Amino acid sequence: SASPSNTFTEHVGKHPGEPNVMDPALIGDPFAGYGALREQGPVVRGRFMDDSPVWFVTRFEEVREVLRDPRFRNNPVSAAPGAAPEDTPLSRLMDMMGFPEHLRVYLLGSILNNDAPDHTRLRRLVSRAFTARKITDLRPRVTQIADELLARLPEHAEDGVVDLIQHFAYPLPITVICELVGIPEEDRPQWRTWGADLVSLQPDRMSRSFPAMIDHIHELIAARRRALTDDLLSELIRTHDDDGSRLSDVEMVTMVLTVVLAGHETTAHLIGNGTAALLTHPDQLRLLKDDPALLPRAVHELMRWCGPVHMTQLRYAAEDVELAGVRIRTGDAVQLILVSANRDPRHYTDPDRLDLTRHPAGHAENHVGFGHGAHYCLGATLAKQEGEVALGALLRHFPELSLAVAPEALERTPVPGSWRLNALPLRLR
Ligand code: HEM
Repeated sequence: SASPSNTFTEHVGKHPGEPNVMDPALIGDPFAGYGALREQGPVVRGRFMDDSPVWFVTRFEEVREVLRDPRFRNNPVSAAPGAAPEDTPLSRLMDMMGFPEHLRVYLLGSILNNDAPDHTRLRRLVSRAFTARKITDLRPRVTQIADELLARLPEHAEDGVVDLIQHFAYPLPITVICELVGIPEEDRPQWRTWGADLVSLQPDRMSRSFPAMIDHIHELIAARRRALTDDLLSELIRTHDDDGSRLSDVEMVTMVLTVVLAGHETTAHLIGNGTAALLTHPDQLRLLKDDPALLPRAVHELMRWCGPVHMTQLRYAAEDVELAGVRIRTGDAVQLILVSANRDPRHYTDPDRLDLTRHPAGHAENHVGFGHGAHYCLGATLAKQEGEVALGALLRHFPELSLAVAPEALERTPVPGSWRLNALPLRLR
């Protein structure tokens, strides 16, 4: 089933005035829900899934301020030395998921759960594979993959209806990221299942998939070590084998896991949400069809208006911090709410309106859909390019594309922090 287990909803409503991220109202309509919290204040008391207290940071300026403030850390233990590693929201979340004890290092070793200097070291190693130049060079290949998938799209139609999520929005980014990392073609469907299991918030699926994925990556590394190429996997192996202090075994496995999962789950839903947004805003769709050069600005606006990631990982205060008049104490957890920041009327005119021409051409990024600061999305350039290629190719192949159901009938995965369509049924003509 699609609904998260009761373990995750049992704390909803326990603390009046302190909304829990699992609250169905926040999950069902995060724009209205977090929007109301934003208008309540820039820093609002809330609760994480495990019922631990968090500060929601809801407005554009304050979100960016925290994300570039080194007093806020991603790793709770480095934020409050002496804090018990098992006594953090992330650890309690892993408890709730039935996450095997011996595998927790693979999450804790992630680039997202580390701070300088470890974060800087990991980020430097992997960012070489994602330079603007490398991504530009990849564009013809991304276009080719998109064209091939779209050429076959009509074959998947049943009664003239095709699910774009299943047959295009997922296969495109998963093919791109797997080619970049070096994941063999036959393994890719498996990765997609693992990805879906990990984000499902369902303990049985998670505890089945995570160990299988870790084993699989170890095997993949062993196999690639016998025949290195120029993919990211080979790069990581070279770095590790050259000098283990630059990249540990666990870090290598975790990096593969993070890049493959972060590299397709999110981008798939930018393509899905973006397509749904265009099809429900015919005036905007018309603008884009009339002027394909608008695409980069359009993707920028779609990231702001319906980006797939609605909140960041938790941050932890490493000292007492005064933020917008609120006293945040050492060790307190902070959740940056990207969805409300991206609709902050203090920063945008008419923020709820989708306006593909809102961002001037060539202008610096003006939203927080990819985060901000040291942990700013490593794959942002790649994701934007995939978004541009995907939407451009889709409208070229199927100019008469339309929704096959009423917009209200579109179903989303009921998990906090992300905005995912379960399916996007379309008529191609
Ligand atoms: C980090 C969003 C695509 C890899 C992030 C963060 C956000 C984000 C919000 C920051 C999280 C935080 O600060 O807690 C997105 C969105 C995407 C996307 C909306 C697609 C539309 C990708 C792709 C890759 C990727 C294609 C593939 C390389 C990463 C990694 C990090 C990250 C490795 C961690 C960076 C660090 O900790 O230094 N992403 N992402 N993402 N993203 Fe993305």
